[in-house]
Amino acid sequence: MLKLSVLLASLASLSCASPHPGGNMHVHERRDSPPTGFAHVSPASADLVLDLRLALVPNNMDGLHRKVYDVSTPGNAAYGQHLSKEEVEALVAPSSESDAAVKDWLSSNNIAYQTTSPAGDWLNVKMTVRQANTLLGSQFTTYKHLETDRETVRTLSYSIPASLKGHLDFVHPTVAFVFFLVLAAFVLSYVEVRSGNVTAGAAPASCNDEFLPSCAQGLYGIPATAATQKSNQLAVSGFIGEYASQADLELLLENFRPDLAGSTFSTSLLDDGQNDQSNPGIEANLDTQYTVAIASRVPVQFISVGENNSDDVDGFLDIVNFLLGEKPIPQTFTTSYGFNEPDLPFSIANNLCNAYAQLGARGTSVLFSSGDGGVSGSQSQSCTAFIPTFPSGCPFVTSVGATQNVNPEIAAYFSSGGFSNYFARPAYQNAAVSSYLAKIGAEYQGKFNATGRGFPDLSAAGVNFLIAVGGQGGLVDGTSASTPLTASIISLLNDQLIARGRSSLGFLNPLIYSNPHAFTPITSGTNPGCNTQGFSASAGWSPVTGVGSPIFSALKRVAGL
Ligand SMILES: *[C@@H]1O[C@H](CO)[C@@H](O)[C@H](O)[C@H]1NC(C)=O
Ligand SMILES: *[C@@H]1O[C@H](CO)[C@@H](O)[C@H](O)[C@H]1NC(C)=O
Ligand SMILES: *[C@@H]1O[C@H](CO)[C@@H](O)[C@H](O)[C@H]1NC(C)=O
Repeated sequence: MLKLSVLLASLASLSCASPHPGGNMHVHERRDSPPTGFAHVSPASADLVLDLRLALVPNNMDGLHRKVYDVSTPGNAAYGQHLSKEEVEALVAPSSESDAAVKDWLSSNNIAYQTTSPAGDWLNVKMTVRQANTLLGSQFTTYKHLETDRETVRTLSYSIPASLKGHLDFVHPTVAFVFFLVLAAFVLSYVEVRSGNVTAGAAPASCNDEFLPSCAQGLYGIPATAATQKSNQLAVSGFIGEYASQADLELLLENFRPDLAGSTFSTSLLDDGQNDQSNPGIEANLDTQYTVAIASRVPVQFISVGENNSDDVDGFLDIVNFLLGEKPIPQTFTTSYGFNEPDLPFSIANNLCNAYAQLGARGTSVLFSSGDGGVSGSQSQSCTAFIPTFPSGCPFVTSVGATQNVNPEIAAYFSSGGFSNYFARPAYQNAAVSSYLAKIGAEYQGKFNATGRGFPDLSAAGVNFLIAVGGQGGLVDGTSASTPLTASIISLLNDQLIARGRSSLGFLNPLIYSNPHAFTPITSGTNPGCNTQGFSASAGWSPVTGVGSPIFSALKRVAGL
């Protein structure tokens, strides 16, 4: 699917060529020391071959951002007029000057390259440490991640010729030390799977102890009616060796959605991803079960990303480039994994965020869980300043927090929320976030960045979800549960839109913030962390539960259905 253009030059020939970096070199990215948790081992072996990726400067990212907002803002003349693959690529591709400048520099140093993204904004190159250290003025070094004992080769700084500034965005992996992809689900206990009825109407109090598909239907008014549109795709991310079991899904359906028995999901494999049906993962099962069982008969695609990703962000770059290469593209994309923002360098976070913007421009709703560590980040940890999570801090994704209880729902204590240090507050949430900041006054001043993009955007149930794992029942908590549930609601709305010949909802946030009445405000609960009580949920937006939990019937009206 990905365009590959290979320039002929063999590794053997290039290992003897001595690179000439060319002209005036400028330090492009640097850090003072490796992050805590990493120890210096030794200089990297000069003959070690590095697999590096070069991000080229896109020719018109501002134009892409404008287009995303135009097609996603209700009331705009272009609302719903999503861009084609080619239109997006025309904005994102490097200019011919940038393309030539970078490729000429590589060629003149006898370095072969491959294009690894649909728009041509990423090049892959292989070179030895010796070559890289000459070409980039770097000092590639082996570091060890102390907790896992894994070794990694990185440099604390690198340079590029002054003439490439404005053409070459960054080289990766160089100063990025990424080892911390976390999934946002934790298992509480195992229970007996027994059959339950699909109930319509309000969710019973038993949902506080065991949250079933029928609880979601009752709580948010989600219809059990089967979707009809085959072209409507709901894509579910799978990472770090988590496989989704068809047998466990069937067990859940037979017991709790007998009307959907026999529904399955398709599996796509990326980066040598596996599909080991004998080794089901909690997260993968949760994510497939609470999409298939809620988004009745919407086609669900599970994308299993393997550990052979060379993108050094656990496959996050590879999966987004895979989706951008698709035609047609899934209308809804849900991911229950993430990072703490400080664990990614800005360059990579910004590049990924722009890739999510491209999905939005194409008409895909991109949902990520906000994290499970309250204000302390993706997982509970000690801290003084609050830790935002990524991708939730990216303004072009929809970040989903968690609630617990029915009648009334309150914030789940673990629901991550806060403010990005990388991305400024986007206009669509200006009023909602300013009003929250005015309410809290000087509270927590210095612990968070009041000018940053606030998250989550909305929230949904995320406690005591009953799932099937290895033929047993299990109860699971996490914003990991809230996210596939929310994605399912979006995909059911898309089914009805597509059935009427309308376009999918696409990037959701401008619509969410301009229709707060389509959500039930969550007015109690906090997200403790960093030795504080955390933020408080409150009517209107909060950095705990966003604008609140979805009301299906109200969202239908908002979508003009
Ligand atoms: C399901 O509903 C039927 C009829 O309302 C009832 O007889 C049965 O006990 C219910 N089963 C469970 C497991 O709740
Ligand atoms: C990962 O790639 C290596 C080298 O190509 C190969 O030996 C290994 O089998 C791959 N792993 C998987 C899970 O496919
Ligand atoms: C606060 O966020 C802004 C983006 O809104 C960023 O430019 C700034 O560097 C951040 N400040 C800190 C201390 O991280």
